[in-house]
Amino acid sequence: MEKIETSDAVEELSNEIQELLLNLPTEKNWDGASLYQYQGCWNRSQYVSSTISFQRHFQAKDSDIILTSFPKSGTTWLKALAFTIVNRSRYPIENSPLITTPPHLLVPFLEVDLYTKSQSPNLEDFPNPRILATHVPYASLPNSILNSDCRIVYVARNPLDQFISHWNFLSGSQQQNMNLVSVEEAFEMICNGVQTYGPVWEHILGYWKASQEQPHKVLFLKYEDMKEDIQFNVKSLANFFGCPFTEDEEAQGVIEEISKFCSFDNMKNLEVNKHGTYRSFKNEAFFRKDTMGDWRNYLKPSMAERMEKILEEKFSGSGLSFMKS
Ligand code: PPS
Repeated sequence: MEKIETSDAVEELSNEIQELLLNLPTEKNWDGASLYQYQGCWNRSQYVSSTISFQRHFQAKDSDIILTSFPKSGTTWLKALAFTIVNRSRYPIENSPLITTPPHLLVPFLEVDLYTKSQSPNLEDFPNPRILATHVPYASLPNSILNSDCRIVYVARNPLDQFISHWNFLSGSQQQNMNLVSVEEAFEMICNGVQTYGPVWEHILGYWKASQEQPHKVLFLKYEDMKEDIQFNVKSLANFFGCPFTEDEEAQGVIEEISKFCSFDNMKNLEVNKHGTYRSFKNEAFFRKDTMGDWRNYLKPSMAERMEKILEEKFSGSGLSFMKS
């Protein structure tokens, strides 16, 4: 039965959150907003609150597909790919809902969208399999996700490119009252692990380890590998979702068609993604440049070396690495 949201329930949670926030470590974000460290992860107060609601109320189904990522690591791309692969018999490409609806509306974020609107949103009306997304770290996922047979896909990206992508996203959409620190200051903060959903290395490692321990449950992808060979990754996703491409589909070029449809150039140029907004951001801001190594245009080599050293140390022994500068 759907939980009825009473103002008392909302009030109760907000009191609990206020009390919790008072006892959490806090720092300032790049825009001066307060970040709180909840379960080892830095976030804004409203997402600490929505994460708690997500943890308490989300009921996973075995058929669910949960797309996970650190922000600016390829989430929008992964959403388009997963939706298109899973729904390929329901919607031929020429009738894809992605032509009229941006990826972030078709595949909403749990803590960023659904659980900010309500403590216990009704998710029963989503068509099965439900495809949902989150930036919450693996360690903070609801038990319901961990204990069910639902599948998790994580996309990781070179943290230097991820940082520059995020930096541009915020500086490009800077509102009048937003006072962003310099790129150098923001870099200093991420080296200390302070950024939304950071530290980035903890985030990546959490999902990496889970994918090593439970490969049938957690698929770990890299943005750079997807750029290098998208068709291989489209096939891996379909296999992982339990809907592998048939020989006929392969012969008909379905894998190539999906790869092209979800490509940066195609998605960026869809009218629906050129106009309108998602939250307070322009839809077009989610499709910027799609390159690797853009950090070189913003960071000194010594800064990159510093981050690479941190990552080398944090990832040591895990078998995980990102391209060297
Ligand atoms: S968000 O806000 O967390 O959902 O952002 P996210 O989608 O994770 O990251 C945005 C970056 O991904 C690029 N992008 C793509 N790359 C390849 N193919 C497709 N289809 C695609 N769609 C978005 C986007 O341009 C951002 O990277 P940068 O480096 O800023 O261009």
